[in-house]
Amino acid sequence: MSLLRIAILGAGDIGGILGRKWAQAGHSVAFGVKNSSSERAQNLRADLGEHILIGSPAEALTQGDIVLLAVPGSAVEDLIKTHAELLDHKLIIDATNQITKGQTAATKQWQGRGSLNSLSTIQTHAPHARVYRAFNSYAWEAFANPLYQGVQADLFYCGPDGEDQAIVEQLIAEIGLRPLRLGGLDKIEVVDEVLQLWATLALFQGWGRDNVAFKVLTR
Ligand SMILES: NC(=O)c1ccc[n+]([C@@H]2O[C@H](COP(=O)([O-])OP(=O)(O)OC[C@H]3O[C@@H](n4cnc5c(N)ncnc54)[C@H](OP(=O)(O)O)[C@@H]3O)[C@@H](O)[C@H]2O)c1
Repeated sequence: MSLLRIAILGAGDIGGILGRKWAQAGHSVAFGVKNSSSERAQNLRADLGEHILIGSPAEALTQGDIVLLAVPGSAVEDLIKTHAELLDHKLIIDATNQITKGQTAATKQWQGRGSLNSLSTIQTHAPHARVYRAFNSYAWEAFANPLYQGVQADLFYCGPDGEDQAIVEQLIAEIGLRPLRLGGLDKIEVVDEVLQLWATLALFQGWGRDNVAFKVLTR
């Protein structure tokens, strides 16, 4: 297993749980946030130790070769434009969705405006970044506990094959899910449709956000 240098932009529900698990797996993890002295940041420091960097996005990006995007959809474009140079050439995993937090659950309908992912923004401003789409299609609760009646959930993702694929699969496996690649970035909308399926069952049909994930059965 290789130890990795990971920068996580956003240390909220999703960045916090993934970062905690990757730090526990031995990786170097740095968080980039808006307010590094917030209560949430202090809780992370208390959990992971004072040596963990929780600073500005630029500070975090100088400490990571792999970047997890985990900020609200509304913040993505500015963040990418501002830090384009630091993001270019890195392996970027886009976990963001262009939806307003809580809105889908509250309104019980899908509020996506066009694409859910930020691929085109990343490719415009950081054209040499190696982009993957993962960790966006389940609620953070699935990453906190990926076992459902003892069965390990699958995580659908997409991105180029090759060396980076092995890294992304390692990172997914360390969260406790089975990585399931749907193909290259041309399959990004398929990955995003998994989120729509998840929301339909977990939120609209009322199964509960802590109760739904998917497993592919094969013979
Ligand atoms: N929550 C989930 O279950 C879940 C699941 C899958 C995907 N996602 C996606 O993941 C993303 C994050 O969701 P979340 O629920 O983790 O959000 P959240 O709990 O609201 O946390 C957002 C984080 O982003 C940081 N942030 C906000 N604006 C920023 C900026 N301009 N520059 C740097 N950092 C900034 C915040 O920093 P401060 O705390 O300092 O303000 C906070 O650490 C969203 O795109 C969401 O759609 C969420």
